[in-house]
Amino acid sequence: MFVSFEGIDGSGKTTLAGRLYEKLKAEGADCILTREPGGCPAGEEIRKLILEPGCDLPADAEVFLFLASQCVNTVNRILPALRDGKTVISDRFYHSILAYQCYGKGYDRAFVERLCRTALRSLAPDVTFLLDITVDEAAKRFAEPDRFTEDTAFLERVRRGFLELAEEEPERIVIIDAGLPLEVKLDIVTDKLYALGTGEKK
Ligand code: TMP
Repeated sequence: MFVSFEGIDGSGKTTLAGRLYEKLKAEGADCILTREPGGCPAGEEIRKLILEPGCDLPADAEVFLFLASQCVNTVNRILPALRDGKTVISDRFYHSILAYQCYGKGYDRAFVERLCRTALRSLAPDVTFLLDITVDEAAKRFAEPDRFTEDTAFLERVRRGFLELAEEEPERIVIIDAGLPLEVKLDIVTDKLYALGTGEKK
């Protein structure tokens, strides 16, 4: 199974993805935890480049770099793990490109979706958990703002983008209130995975 976590910066998705990974490992599941941008050596190099403070990239270069990271991580790490029967947990995947670069920065969505299909070999998560939080609340939680978190209006567009994507794909994208206690969020996630795995509700 391929599981992704999405949300604006400060939504707590990295913590929740990590907790799910630890829980599944403790139960003896064969799983890997990865992230975007990053997740593999080349991806982590791309991550450094994109997130470099003051790095001034045109919108299309940004799209290509995020996509390059996802492409190499998909081909070299995610697809082989899925083929081996492992569960893959990804902290962000292509919904972030759509929300940040298309909704946030206005880059053409149809074009990006075409690029994603090619670069990601048409891979899509089986389920995506969207941690929803207001921009104001999220700002209080940033460890350190990066160049994607400085602009409030931009983050509002990204948040709206994620919510619209969730409306389009209610079967795949589960919205979770980021303000809930961590253990409650973890229960929501594991109940959904259980239901997907067995076809029934716990
Ligand atoms: P992170 O904070 O979740 O590690 O993500 C790093 C930043 O990169 C975050 O501000 C969101 C941004 N980002 C995009 O703009 N587009 C993307 O496709 C991805 C994966 C991340």
